[in-house]
Amino acid sequence: MRLIDGKTISEAIKKEIAAEVASMIDKGKRAPHMAAILVGNDGASETYVASKEKNCRSVGMTSSLYRYDAGISEKELLDAISFLNQDDDVDGFIVQLPLPKHMDVDKVIRAIDPEKDIDGFHPVNMGCLVLGEDTFVPATPYGIMELLERAGIETSGKKCVVLGRSNIVGTPMALLMSRNNPHANATVTICHSKTADLAAEARMADILVAAIGKPGFVTADMVKEGAVVVDVGIHRVEDKTRQNGFRLVGDVDFDQVAPKCSAITPVPGGVGPMTIAALLMNTMKAYRKHISAR
Ligand code: GUN
Repeated sequence: MRLIDGKTISEAIKKEIAAEVASMIDKGKRAPHMAAILVGNDGASETYVASKEKNCRSVGMTSSLYRYDAGISEKELLDAISFLNQDDDVDGFIVQLPLPKHMDVDKVIRAIDPEKDIDGFHPVNMGCLVLGEDTFVPATPYGIMELLERAGIETSGKKCVVLGRSNIVGTPMALLMSRNNPHANATVTICHSKTADLAAEARMADILVAAIGKPGFVTADMVKEGAVVVDVGIHRVEDKTRQNGFRLVGDVDFDQVAPKCSAITPVPGGVGPMTIAALLMNTMKAYRKHISAR
């Protein structure tokens, strides 16, 4: 069994991005600028956004965070989005999800200028993804595709089973894997809560992508001997033996499943750092386009 090291591969990507940023600055251009909107104080969102900011700065990009109280109105959030849409110094931005319940997420996402939508969640960008056109690809599936390619995992002609059909991960993951591309070309099945025999479907996978959102959901009986397993989950579970009182686990029961795999992504250090690297790649894409349009 081989560990697919997302941390090391993401560091290599960040080095490439840092070199490109430095060369643009040498040419007299400004640094790329990513902004994030964070509404409320959700613990996981705070962690994600802090990591995005730190990584952005580490490659020489400008990062700014717009924080709002959970009680702000939808109108106030839409006004903040409109402000960032028009701010010529901002190349791309994200609205961290989840949003408070009183907000219409679809309406909020539609308010983002598709040219600045580095999450790739806007219907225009999702539509381009379906059509196989050049677009902002949502960061988690983009990071996974990049991870598999750089780790030398063959996907062409393989059977890929994606567990989960979210707009953020499962659905775009399935689209990317089935594309006509030497680093995709897989035959894809999406499983979800109404799948009749999910374990049987999962056992067919040469490549199993677990994006279910339940800690330890994938057990050894659901994995074929020699499969490649990609674990998208990241959950805090109580662990009194740890100084901080918790440990991070994925959607896969790692200890049970890893011995059966030819390769597996660890949690942490697998998909997580690649998601951030992919967001930085999207920011570069927005920046290049924005700079050349001036
Ligand atoms: N919440 C969990 N994942 C994501 C993501 O990729 N983007 C945004 N904006 N929010 C998230």
